[in-house]
Amino acid sequence: MQMERLQIDQETFIQALGGEEAAATMSASAKADALDDFMIGALNDPGYPEMVARARNGGPPTLRRGTGAIFGDGQRQPIDLVPLPPAPTLLDYFRLRLPLPFLRHLLQSAGMALESGVEEELVLACLLHDFGQNLARVDHGWWGAQMIEPYVSERVAFAVRYHQALRFYADEAAGYHYPELYVQIFGEGYIPEPYIAATYEQVRKHPWYMAARMVTVNDLYAFDPNKSVSLDPFVDIIGRHFRQPPEGLGFDGSPIAHMWRSLSFPDHPL
Ligand SMILES: [Fe+2]
Ligand SMILES: [Fe+2]
Repeated sequence: MQMERLQIDQETFIQALGGEEAAATMSASAKADALDDFMIGALNDPGYPEMVARARNGGPPTLRRGTGAIFGDGQRQPIDLVPLPPAPTLLDYFRLRLPLPFLRHLLQSAGMALESGVEEELVLACLLHDFGQNLARVDHGWWGAQMIEPYVSERVAFAVRYHQALRFYADEAAGYHYPELYVQIFGEGYIPEPYIAATYEQVRKHPWYMAARMVTVNDLYAFDPNKSVSLDPFVDIIGRHFRQPPEGLGFDGSPIAHMWRSLSFPDHPL
């Protein structure tokens, strides 16, 4: 198939930047960003298919609800980021990339698991269970499991992946009740999507069902703002059950390294 090349009219582009003088004061990267916008704007030409025209339809900037927390919520200023060290560890990502409410949620869930005598490996699963929400809220169990898969046992990845589906199904015997919060968010009598229901049916027959269930049992729906925020109780557990790559997360050439890099550099435009 022959692709038609998009013609950029330099004169029109300079005018769009506010004229020669304004263009001269812009940094190279600001110009590159403006060129991106200009080219995408050009694609809005009525001659192009409707789907492309709809990609930019004006209105206030906003975000899809499934966007990861690192990218902001579309309303408040995203958290300030400091660069990660050259070979970033899991602890670096916890300390420097997790918004505080997430950090509290994960620490308190893992803390509860630790206190109730859950085995170490599953304490780690509790500590990591919503980490994926930082990258994408939608299907966060799957995203989160994929990110950690090369570095943890298969069972830990399983627990993280499937807590997402299990949380919609009570297991009173295991101590998991349907969360009141979900009645508020999803409404009374909410029926999960068919793929979630199918996943639940699969997982509940799996020998590792209880691993994923333990994550939901220790998943807290309210955090205590007075509890201290400290990773200290988990440093050794991470050391024993998370295989930190020496090159750093994001730089070890693994097929999922880009997911960590996206957390590392969430402001890179392309
Ligand atoms: Fe979750
Ligand atoms: Fe959670």
